[in-house]
Amino acid sequence: MAVDLLLGLQWGDEGKGKIVDVLTKNYDIIARFQGGPNAGHTLEFDGIKHVLRTIPSGIFHDKSINVIGNGVVIDPVVFVKELEGLDQFNIDYKAKLIISRKAHLILPTHRLLDAASEASKGKAKIGSTLKGIGPTYMDKTGRNGIRVGDIELENWKEKYRALANKHEGMIEYYNVDIQYDLKDMEKEFFEAVETLKTLQFIDSEEYLRQALKQGKTILAEGAQGSLLDIDFGTYPYVTSSNTTAAGACTGLGIAPNKVKDVFGIFKAYTTRVGSGPFPTELFDDVGAEMAKVGHEFGAVTGRPRRCGWLDLVALKYTCEVNGVTQLMMMKGDVLSGFEHLKVCTAYKYKGKTITHLPFNIEPENVSPVYTEFACWKEDLTRMRKPSEFPKELNEYIAFLEKELEIPIKVVSVGPDRTQTIHR
Ligand code: GDP
Ligand code: IMO
Ligand code: MG
Repeated sequence: MAVDLLLGLQWGDEGKGKIVDVLTKNYDIIARFQGGPNAGHTLEFDGIKHVLRTIPSGIFHDKSINVIGNGVVIDPVVFVKELEGLDQFNIDYKAKLIISRKAHLILPTHRLLDAASEASKGKAKIGSTLKGIGPTYMDKTGRNGIRVGDIELENWKEKYRALANKHEGMIEYYNVDIQYDLKDMEKEFFEAVETLKTLQFIDSEEYLRQALKQGKTILAEGAQGSLLDIDFGTYPYVTSSNTTAAGACTGLGIAPNKVKDVFGIFKAYTTRVGSGPFPTELFDDVGAEMAKVGHEFGAVTGRPRRCGWLDLVALKYTCEVNGVTQLMMMKGDVLSGFEHLKVCTAYKYKGKTITHLPFNIEPENVSPVYTEFACWKEDLTRMRKPSEFPKELNEYIAFLEKELEIPIKVVSVGPDRTQTIHR
């Protein structure tokens, strides 16, 4: 009768989708609590790769119900394409996928505003995925947004028109050169809304409360990563929602005392897409090798991900912010055969050595202090038991567990469902 949370501890793309898919067999309900189609969650099994954007990563399992919570923002156009992608796999999403009436809609003009805002920032741009995330959450907190429940009402298009007109004025204000045909975008949008309406809308907080009363188990799926959290991330180079544990409570209507385990996922190294500080970033052949072997290209935008060593200062911080109870380490297989490994265990900050994440981690303020390790040479991807792990991998894991004081319960050695080792 509890809710477990699964969160990314770095800057996103840690492998959340893969692990949610692996864990789904243990849960009755998988519930996404924030973010929108800026997310790209990759699942691989039976030789097929799936990328999910807004739909929870439990959708491929027969028994589980998948909930899109109130904290999520939905672009009907992207969402309908995602549904079409599921059709060929005979997924009964009308039965298995349910949507909170309180989730907000991303309008075509939100996407345009995202583009205009980024263009106006020049070099200081966030590196947004341009999916309209920031403007949609701004309208949510500004109390202007349109919610899923609104499209069940007769006069919702009047509300839509008023908001879209306001957005057009704002786009003009930015005074940047973006080309668009709003009529075409709106046609696609309203068609997609009609498809969206064929799905089940619910009062999801009530649904989840009842489910808990009946003894059902819930896994809350996070999107993005803790360092992209609007409050605790590397602001302003963040997304516009709370990606950390508290976001699961507000994004689903679940009380904090119902949360049991918090699963924190991290890569054995670090990646980041978009702009913003990244103290352990590598600009040399080693970073290029991580990107190449790890196929580090964004699942949504295809942009190359920046790569670097594991940052324990940042990881400790996100473990604490989230109250992580179990860790899961991903992509150790990518590092096989590297000459050595480095882990950042402290920062040099304004002449001092510190072990906490300071307010300002721009390169001019912070330089990483590294501990070096021997790297494993063996191919991990065929391993299926911890007893097969090479000595160097065990030493790396033991060091991280000691530093973070949290057990690493899962080690992932490849993208496939089967390449997941429980310890
Ligand atoms: P998410 O956004 O956290 O769900 O992660 P993404 O799907 O965006 O990115 C993770 C990428 O790494 C995907 O391409 C996965 O298929 C892949 N992946 C996940 N776990 C592993 C692993 O242990 N080893 C390798 N080599 N790839 C992995
Ligand atoms: P998943 O769930 C990695 C990054 C963008 C940009 C910043 C703001 O797949 O881990 P936004 O579109 O939210 O306004 O972009 O956040 N970003 C992600 N990076 N993985 C993600 O999601 C991301 N979602 C947003 O690159 O730097
Ligand atoms: Mg991703």
